[in-house]
Order: sequence, then structure tokens, then C-alpha cells
Amino acid sequence: MSTVGTADTADTAGTTGAVVVYGATGHTGRFIVAELRRRGIATVVSGRDEARLAALAAEGGADVLVRPATVDDPASLDRALAGAAAVINAAGPFAVTGGPVVEAALRAGIPYVDVAAEIEANVTMFADHAEAARKAEVPVVPAMAFYGGLGDLLVSAATGGWEAADEVHVAYGLSSWRPTAGTREAGTVSHERRAGRRVRFTDGALRYHDDQLAQQEWDFPAPLGRRTVIAEFTMADVVTVPSHVDVPEVRTYMAAEAARDLAGADTPAPEPVDDLGRSDQTFVVDVLVRAGGLERRATARGQDIYAVTAPLAVEAVERLLSGRTRTTGVASAAAMFDAPDFLRALAPYLSVELSH
Ligand SMILES: NC(=O)c1ccc[n+]([C@@H]2O[C@H](COP(=O)([O-])OP(=O)(O)OC[C@H]3O[C@@H](n4cnc5c(N)ncnc54)[C@H](OP(=O)(O)O)[C@@H]3O)[C@@H](O)[C@H]2O)c1
Repeated sequence: MSTVGTADTADTAGTTGAVVVYGATGHTGRFIVAELRRRGIATVVSGRDEARLAALAAEGGADVLVRPATVDDPASLDRALAGAAAVINAAGPFAVTGGPVVEAALRAGIPYVDVAAEIEANVTMFADHAEAARKAEVPVVPAMAFYGGLGDLLVSAATGGWEAADEVHVAYGLSSWRPTAGTREAGTVSHERRAGRRVRFTDGALRYHDDQLAQQEWDFPAPLGRRTVIAEFTMADVVTVPSHVDVPEVRTYMAAEAARDLAGADTPAPEPVDDLGRSDQTFVVDVLVRAGGLERRATARGQDIYAVTAPLAVEAVERLLSGRTRTTGVASAAAMFDAPDFLRALAPYLSVELSH
């Protein structure tokens, strides 16, 4: 049975120990809710549309609490988070939702995790909230998702936690990319924020430019092999990795087919093909780190970048709640968690190989 929490004052009934998913009705939010339910974690579904939230909770068939809230109404966010243990923000654009939801988490004194893949929103999370989060001793983990989080964990696992490197490369070998409405919206918002310019991380900083994106070949491990990728297809790893690794060059690459899909106005949204709701998209994330003549590599394989974001975010929350953390305040996945141990815990969803 689902319950709608509409009390004007903070109503904590049923929320003790629960994890709030803000943006629960989205494509990724639904995967996150399902993952929480699979792990037996009490769940509060939140977002701006009460009717859609109630329908989602009813589908859950068990005790899922409904707490509608809008980002322009801080009191509604406070009600949504009242008594909860943590919040996962899956509502994009994060340029709009990130600030209000993290501020509500800090007021409530509970951990905040988001799945933002908007580089400027990721930067803002570190720049604007680090001090308040550190003072409140509240952990905040931005980009705890396929883009940003996974690459960061792989870099750390590959190197055994090097604190400095000369270069980090993250190549995304996606078989296809059927984008959700939220992904398209994130792209539009980021494009507008950059006034149509492109961004790269070089010489130790994010730099905006107008260069055309170049293609090159990338040797993914077998069986994928040599593929054409778009170079400097810049993803959230350029924020997460340099947040704790002293590295002047971080480059991310995207399989040319997937980049074409994403750019296509008619590319359809993902369709489920299995009983977990995953699409037939497969991925290989290939990370290469170089430092002082040494080279380390880590590769992760799996199915469906949206679906795999759910165990990444939920594993993070479980670790935050059980104190399996390395710091507090705003920190990326690999700064917050023991990367090899975290990746091992995702074994049902991800296969990871490390090679030296
Ligand atoms: N880093 C990564 O690897 C990664 C992975 C997955 C997703 N993401 C990001 O996560 C976001 C969601 O993706 P998705 O695939 O779930 O997209 P989606 O299916 O379109 O869902 C978007 C969600 O955001 C909510 N939302 C949009 N604007 C809002 C606002 N102003 N206030 C409150 N809620 C709002 C929507 O609520 P309604 O239901 O009310 O419309 C919906 O729940 C995107 O920004 C995407 O880039 C990143």
C-alpha cells in the first residue's frame, strides 16, 4: 500500500531509515526505486507530480511513501526529507534541482547523492556547497552514476589510489545511445550554459573552446576491439577525477555510433528488453591512466547506462549510511569510497578488469 504524506508540518511517520528518491518518476528514478526495493530499503518517492508519484508507488505494491515537493518550495522539500536517512536526486536538469535539493539535505542533516551529468552543475555542487557540507559533516556525492562516478572509481581502482597522474583517459564504448528526455534536456541546458561553446579539461582546468570535435581510433579490449570514437566528448569525469587526483589532462571519448544516436533528433527513447527493464544497449568503459612512464588500465562492461546508475547510487547510499566512507562534505565517488571494494560489490551488474 502506498501512503501520501501531505502534512503541513514535518511528518516523519514511516520515513525512519528511508531513502528519498527525488525525481522518482523519471526513467533513472524508477530504476533507483526498484533497486532500493530489491535491497529491502524503505523508500520515499518524491518529485513535482503527485499523481505520477502515487501511480509509481502503487506499482511498487508495498509500503512506498509518497512525498511531493517542488524545488521552488523549500518547505515542501523539508517535508519530503523529514525523518529520512538520505536522499538521491535523480531529477534533471540539475542546474535547476541540484541547489534546492542539496540545501534541503543539509538542513535535514542527511547524506545527498545525485546522478548529475551536467558538467557545470557538477562544478557548482563542489564550489557552492563544499563548505556548508563539511561544516555540517554531511556527505554529498555528485555524479554518483554511470558518467562521473563509474569512471572515477575505475581510475582509482586502476591505480590503487594514486593522488597524482599525468593523464587520465576515459573511453565510452556504447553499442548505441537511445537518450531519455532527461538526457536531451541536460544536453540543452549545458549547451545554453556554455553559450554554445564546448568544454575540455586541459592544463589543469576546464577550458571553453569552439574547435570542431575530432574523430580518432580507440583500442578497446577484446572483443570490442578498435573503434572510432569522438575525442573530447567531455563528460562528468572531468569534474570528479580532478576533484581528488592532481592531474592536468583528463579526456573522455565516445563511440562514434553512440554520439550519432544522441545527436539524432529522431533517435527513440530506450526500450526494455529484459525483466530488469534494461534496454539492449551494452557498454565498455575503458580507463587509461599514465604517470611518470607507468600506465594502468581498468575496464568495466555491462548493460544499459541508465539501469546501472541505480546500483551505483544505491550502493553509495548504503555505504554512506553504514559509515563505509573515507571523508565527509562534497566528494566524488572515489574520494568518498574504497573504489575496488565498491566495484566488487557491483559484480552482479558490472564486470571489471584491472590490468597493469
Ligand atoms: N551521470 C549519469 O550517468 C546519468 C545517468 C542517468 C541519468 N542522468 C541524468 O539524470 C537526469 C534524469 O534522467 P532520466 O533519464 O531519468 O530522465 P527523465 O526520464 O526525463 O526524468 C526526468 C526526471 O526529472 C524530473 N524533473 C525534471 N525537471 C524537474 C523540475 N524542474 N523539478 C522537479 N523535477 C523535475 C522529472 O519529473 P516529472 O516526472 O514530473 O516530469 C523526472 O522525474 C538527467 O539529467 C540525466 O542526464 C545521468
